[in-house]
Amino acid sequence: MPRLSVNLNKVALIRNSRGANFPDLIKVARDCERYGAQGITIHPRPDQRHARYDDVAALKEVVTTELNIEGYPTEKFLDVVLTTRPDQVTLVPDEPGQLTSDHGWDTMKRADELRPIIGRLRNAGIRTSIFVDPDPKMLDGALAIGTDRIEFYTGPYAHAYDTDRDGAVAPFASASAHAAALGLGINAGHDLNLDNLAYFVSKLPDLQEVSIGHALVVDALYFGLENTIQLYLNRLEN
Ligand code: PXP
Repeated sequence: MPRLSVNLNKVALIRNSRGANFPDLIKVARDCERYGAQGITIHPRPDQRHARYDDVAALKEVVTTELNIEGYPTEKFLDVVLTTRPDQVTLVPDEPGQLTSDHGWDTMKRADELRPIIGRLRNAGIRTSIFVDPDPKMLDGALAIGTDRIEFYTGPYAHAYDTDRDGAVAPFASASAHAAALGLGINAGHDLNLDNLAYFVSKLPDLQEVSIGHALVVDALYFGLENTIQLYLNRLEN
């Protein structure tokens, strides 16, 4: 069963909107783990509008499952993760100021830039993952630059789920089989929710981890955090 890593960016956004430490991200992370989450993710962006760079070290102190830090590899970002050494770093091609992640890396064109960064992370004992679209060429490129895992950008799947779920999942299922044959680990995330998650998981038997934030936090408004995490775990099991 793929692991559920809860992305806490939206919790940090609520905290930041009032300037005090409420809700307390550390308490929420601990509670997510207590309720069954198998990982905690944050994605600090350069403007730090939701997760902040100093949240990384604070979470590293308390997370007992797996800490995954996502982000664009600026020198500041690399400095933070190389110092803190989370379990996994997911490199995302977001330019500073971007609203949310909406595409994967071009692992061919940007190979010379990514290869040494992945090398630095691996030398620090950090598992690396890079955000990609479900394109076999990009997976070949991912292997060539030395990453341990890839994370599929699942936005297009989620957006097409209601109208054509078979067509929407097909490129991910075949890309996942290709990635597994290459020996790459496989993660996925973006816009996954209680409706579209189980079907996606059922079609990607090699999937190791999903990271889910926006929908999970919204669902928690209605169902509560503990119930919501159980609902997501249930979707991952089935
Ligand atoms: N993966 C990456 C690389 C992301 O940038 C995000 C959003 O921060 C997610 C996964 C989670 O997406 P969502 O918040 O839509 O669940």
